[in-house]
Amino acid sequence: MIKNRDGFSSKLGVIAAAAGSAVGLGNIWKFPYVAGQNGGAAFILIYLLFTFLVALPVLLSAFVMGRSTGKNAVGAFKSVSPRGAWKYVGLFGILAALLLISFYGVVAGWTTEYVYLALTNQLNLGTAEAYQHLFESRVANPESSIFWLAIFLAFTVLIVISGVKNGIEKYAKLLMPLLFALLLVLAFRSITLDGADKGIDFLLNPDFSKLSAEAVLSALGQAFFSLSVGIGTMVIYGSYIRKDVNLQVTASEIALADVAIAILSGLAIFPAVFAYNVSPSAGPGLVFITLPQVFQYMPAGYFFSLSFFVLLFVAALTSSISMLEVLVSFFVEEYDMRRKRVAISISLVIIVLGSICALSNNLLADVKLFGLSIFDLFDYIVTNLAMPIGSFTILVFVGWRMDQNIVKEELGLGKRINQMGYNAIMFLVKFVAPSAVLIIFLNGIGLLG
Ligand code: PHE
Repeated sequence: MIKNRDGFSSKLGVIAAAAGSAVGLGNIWKFPYVAGQNGGAAFILIYLLFTFLVALPVLLSAFVMGRSTGKNAVGAFKSVSPRGAWKYVGLFGILAALLLISFYGVVAGWTTEYVYLALTNQLNLGTAEAYQHLFESRVANPESSIFWLAIFLAFTVLIVISGVKNGIEKYAKLLMPLLFALLLVLAFRSITLDGADKGIDFLLNPDFSKLSAEAVLSALGQAFFSLSVGIGTMVIYGSYIRKDVNLQVTASEIALADVAIAILSGLAIFPAVFAYNVSPSAGPGLVFITLPQVFQYMPAGYFFSLSFFVLLFVAALTSSISMLEVLVSFFVEEYDMRRKRVAISISLVIIVLGSICALSNNLLADVKLFGLSIFDLFDYIVTNLAMPIGSFTILVFVGWRMDQNIVKEELGLGKRINQMGYNAIMFLVKFVAPSAVLIIFLNGIGLLG
């Protein structure tokens, strides 16, 4: 390992930072509406299955790869297989991280604007149409979308510039407990409303007849996206983990925290939505259109609405930090560049790409590539291509290509390895998870008919 390499100082720091990466817009903004559109509890069950049997083995493999090599995703592939083609998958991951932060930043920018609107009490609008109009007008406005994207990015860059221990870890330790506390308060408020039971039922009572093949595919996509795997994030975070931290336990705790927060978000949203008789299937507008409307009916709505958007902002921030870190660490380690300079230069590129995404919702709405708007195209490349391809590759690499003694040592904390647990994990890593990814991926891109 490189001498004096920055890293996480404690196990708690690892959990906060990696769970901070995992818990994001994917849990609070995307999960509830995707679950809502795909039949609620039945979708959630499949999603849980994928998280623990497929995405968690990927997370663990990424940690093994990162910690054993002490490198970013590209460097890690290169140090095990200098002449192999693996590193190109690493590079694809780096590119995907750039596209991801560009469109994620746009949604995070809307979130930042809604924090401002909630704070200045501008979310008391009365009718459903007024909320719809507000959101659509924000999305349709190029200047404000780009302005709020830039503000959000500024927070991200400032934290990443401060480094791993004094930036990423420090803020994650501060922000994650805040996020959890806010979410608990909101979920408690929501499930204690009169008429909340319909929402709880919708979320926890499975109806398998609503489960389509497409829903199964989006459950897998959601599992990868939510655990931040497949594009190098967890490899670089793994490289910052100290040798005395148990990876199996840590990865499992992160996965548990991630799904717990997704489900808690559902519990914060749906009971309230049903209690006030608002439609649960609003899609991406669920948290921006439906929720503020619900909050205005609640006593102390100002407080709950502000808490919710702060929560969403914090979740997005700790995730985008990890995306930027993928890019920054790559240039710092592979090209010997300075962290601060790299972070600032990359953020300029992100502003340009992010602006194009933001404009694809308004001025550039007619520009379509492969039938998708630029925003949707970026999302498609990251979620449907880069993440499954990257995840598959990491599994095969750790399961079949890496020296198994090293893998065993990383998984077992030296000698004290539990042979049965190790065999079970390697069975998932070598066989179950890659076949599941392959079948679902090929089916998803239409190759299995
Ligand atoms: N897991 C994050 C979320 O749920 C998104 C993310 C994906 C972050 C990949 C980093 C890398 O919002």
